[in-house]
Amino acid sequence: MSPVPVQTITTDMASIDIVDQPSEGQRTPHAIEKPTCPFPHDNVSANGTTETPSTCPVSGSLSNPTTQEISLELLRTSLPDRINYIKDFIMFGTPDQEILHKVAPMVNDMIPGVVDDLYAKLFEFDVTKQIFLKRNEGFDGPIPSKLEDLTLDSAQLVYRKIFMKSWARRVLTSDYTSGKTWAYMDKVGIMHTGVKSFKHRNHVEPLVVPYRDCALSLGWVQTVLQTAILQLTNEELSIEEKIAAVGAVSKVIWIQNDLFARHYIDE
Ligand code: HEM
Repeated sequence: MSPVPVQTITTDMASIDIVDQPSEGQRTPHAIEKPTCPFPHDNVSANGTTETPSTCPVSGSLSNPTTQEISLELLRTSLPDRINYIKDFIMFGTPDQEILHKVAPMVNDMIPGVVDDLYAKLFEFDVTKQIFLKRNEGFDGPIPSKLEDLTLDSAQLVYRKIFMKSWARRVLTSDYTSGKTWAYMDKVGIMHTGVKSFKHRNHVEPLVVPYRDCALSLGWVQTVLQTAILQLTNEELSIEEKIAAVGAVSKVIWIQNDLFARHYIDE
């Protein structure tokens, strides 16, 4: 049998530098890094199996001092602790914020279009469209009562898009070192679960949107934003910056996703 010909494809690859822990030191505050054990020992238990991590019986130190100890209770009850854990895990830091801020003015003009298209998407399916038959907070104009009468240019829809545009702009321009940013994103998650989180929504019926549709919408927004970034010219944004920006968008969207999911999923 003759050998299968091997074809070599040469491509120009952009290199990505994977940096270590961000320099500003956003380690989870309650992580306890015990000193390295001064008494060398291996992680083998009495029955011969390997245990990780092991605790030194003499010094009490963990054999692997780089493992952060995460409190499950604080992950549930403390937003700052949860955010610190997530930021550490996906390595979200100042470089991500800087590239998002750089890209923001370049894609700002497309945000109204992104929001229009998202609503068009949500109107493609009855399960997502019917949620918009309810009255928005602060809106006292006419609302259709039947699904078929609800259109994308209904007065309430035009009004609602303002909030969504504001959220999309915040994704690209927020100060992610501020707890207020995460508190806002967390409230956005909470308000879709039937629980009131924003003071200005105190007097309306609770909003209940299935997590499934929130996650799908986030994925949709992520794809659109990343595509827009990749379509910028190399003069506007270098290839390395595009890679960084696409990564930063993923991270923010995934954090927002967690700030939806945590209110639906009982961990
Ligand atoms: C990408 C995922 C989503 C994000 C980021 C998001 C964000 C928001 C924001 C920022 C608000 C306004 C909060 C405020 O009052 O200040 C809001 C309200 C609302 N959202 Fe979402 N949303 C998402 C998905 C969905 C989905 C999938 C639906 C329905 C299918 C939905 C339906 C609504 C409704 C009906 C309101 C109420 C508006 C009002 O009463 O003021 N959302 N959302």
